Amino acid sequence: MIKMQNISKAFGNNHVLKDFNLEAKKGSSLVILGGSGSGKSVCLKCLLGLLEPDSGDMTINKTRINGLSQKQRTRTFGQIGMLFQNAALFDSLNVWRNVAFGLIEGQGMNPEQAHEIALLKLAQVGLQESVAELLPNELSGGMRKRVGLARAIATEPKILFFDEPTTGLDPIMGQVIDELIVSCVKELGATAVTITHDMQSLRRIADDVVMLFEGRDIWHGSVQEIDSTDNPYIRQFVEGSSEGPITMPLFKLGAKGS
Ligand SMILES: Nc1ncnc2c1ncn2[C@@H]1O[C@H](COP(=O)(O)OP(=O)(O)O)[C@@H](O)[C@H]1O
Ligand SMILES: [Mg+2]
Repeated sequence: MIKMQNISKAFGNNHVLKDFNLEAKKGSSLVILGGSGSGKSVCLKCLLGLLEPDSGDMTINKTRINGLSQKQRTRTFGQIGMLFQNAALFDSLNVWRNVAFGLIEGQGMNPEQAHEIALLKLAQVGLQESVAELLPNELSGGMRKRVGLARAIATEPKILFFDEPTTGLDPIMGQVIDELIVSCVKELGATAVTITHDMQSLRRIADDVVMLFEGRDIWHGSVQEIDSTDNPYIRQFVEGSSEGPITMPLFKLGAKGS
């Protein structure tokens, strides 16, 4: 359903994606794993049409989407739901109008009906009606994230991109959100691509996994395979260890003898 083949993307000298590949099967949930700054968000922004790759092919349903504007993508594939890492809500719109945006602006639904649906979607992410009239700057980070999620799923899109949906949520709300993602895939038959580094969440939502490291897709497999693979990058991620091939550039403090 969704394919990226040999995608490269650089910002100046910063070569973020290098011949990157991924594939999400129709009606399945793919998770992208990778360290901070490895290019995961860039990858989703390329699929959404907010960034244009320097080379490589992207297809949805076998149609090449390189160079298609977001509008053209929507016309061809229907609404594409996206939860941004920082939620990216419209600051001047209250919560329910944020959630209803795609219904009113995209589908031309009348505001009363869109309001009803927005309240339902808010309830699905654990937010009460009293939140609906608030502005984004009156919400906590976790609430903004949930409003962003309600907005992403409001039109019941067949294609969903989630950038770190559970980051900043408590474990109970995290589980609620994971179940919602699973139900979008299983009940609505959507194809979802999710970025996470929460291994618990990955085990709940993933059918397949791709690992991004230094711009490349260094491992692909099913969620079951993450426990049996001896790939050192996956092992390090699964075990949450600072020892392994993935190193973080840190300044060592309090070195021996100092
Ligand atoms: N619009 C942009 N312009 C310049 N550099 C960018 C832009 N977006 C992302 N980058 C750079 O690309 C790299 C990967 O970023 P990102 O995809 O956000 O990482 P993550 O894997 O944590 O989501 C970072 O070095 C970041 O600074
Ligand atoms: Mg990111």
